[in-house]
Amino acid sequence: MSFLALSNIQKSFGSNRVVHNFDMEIEKGEFVSFLGPSGCGKTTVLRMIAGFENPSAGTITIAGRNQNDLKPNQRNIGMVFQAYALFPNMNVFDNVAFGLKIAGLAKAEIQTRVMEMLKLIKLGHLAERYPYQMSGGQQQRVALARALAPKPQVLLLDEPLSALDAKIRVSLREEIRLIQQTLGITTVFVTHDQEEALSISDRIVVMNAGRADQIGTPFEIYNRPATRFVASFVGTLNVLAATVVDPAAGTVTIGDQTITLRESIATMAKGDHLHLALRPEAGSLAEGARGDTALVGAVTSSHFLGSVIRTRLDVAGTVISFDTFNDPNTKPPAVGDHVTLRFAANDLLIIRD
Ligand SMILES: Nc1ncnc2c1ncn2[C@@H]1O[C@H](COP(=O)(O)OP(=O)(O)OP(=O)(O)O)[C@@H](O)[C@H]1O
Ligand SMILES: [Mg+2]
Repeated sequence: MSFLALSNIQKSFGSNRVVHNFDMEIEKGEFVSFLGPSGCGKTTVLRMIAGFENPSAGTITIAGRNQNDLKPNQRNIGMVFQAYALFPNMNVFDNVAFGLKIAGLAKAEIQTRVMEMLKLIKLGHLAERYPYQMSGGQQQRVALARALAPKPQVLLLDEPLSALDAKIRVSLREEIRLIQQTLGITTVFVTHDQEEALSISDRIVVMNAGRADQIGTPFEIYNRPATRFVASFVGTLNVLAATVVDPAAGTVTIGDQTITLRESIATMAKGDHLHLALRPEAGSLAEGARGDTALVGAVTSSHFLGSVIRTRLDVAGTVISFDTFNDPNTKPPAVGDHVTLRFAANDLLIIRD
């Protein structure tokens, strides 16, 4: 049985329904990310799990126990927010000890537990510091320690990294994942950053306007997007307009170029329009490159990014963006060059909405 279950959750503010029939089962120890654009309802679902909002309909259970009628402080949930929400007038030790004091632990127990938590976030040497004397990254680690100190059964993280600079974000997300795995704590992490979600999650829920569009592992979400929204929100995606030539043979045209699809289009008719998705890493320009499918186009831009070269190609009026690894022995194509982009027919996904 799942550990944290959201069954048919709905939420309306007045007449505005912001969460629709949200269903999700999370296993014990799992790290799940809610990924979606601003305003899609991520925080609202998190706040319902924490008990700060009541669902308009549906039930939330943790370890088999219905949470709907429990107050936030009865749910045993740890939460970290986007903004540093440390108590400014307390030092690091007292911030982390806060929940333990409320729980009525003995002084010696609190001392041991706080130092254990500070060791976990590698800030044992800063126990006396006040929030204003620390960097944003350090403050968020303290916020994490404070949330974890009372041994919550579920950890909720609402964009905890979004106020930090890029380098710290990457190292802290890896640290959060490591701590989460060490403790085996069931975690829901909210983000609108797809790379963040892909890199640290067991599973991702891609949210779109209050609904879960797709739930799956990062690999599934990226490689087999269920909807056009998921395909375009997660990663960069080329969308090519095509027209059916021969449904039985699986041939379509893109502009004046004909290609054969791997996926069946037998139920479509000659002249039907469809959209095809191609990831930027699927193509190659190299001589003798593998791939049973080719499109010819003119290079409109070429950006050398170091390990990767990002090239844009105009194919019959559609710009296709693709990435290739740097090869010191091969010069990148120049703007205006006519080149052949090769890829496997398998890499073309038909977008079905
Ligand atoms: N207390 C409230 N009263 C009325 N409307 C609200 C309330 N809280 C949230 N909303 C609305 O619900 C919708 C979802 O908000 P939510 O904060 O869950 O989005 P989000 O996905 O977390 O966005 P972001 O990435 O910007 O944090 C928004 O349209 C928001 O305006
Ligand atoms: Mg939010």
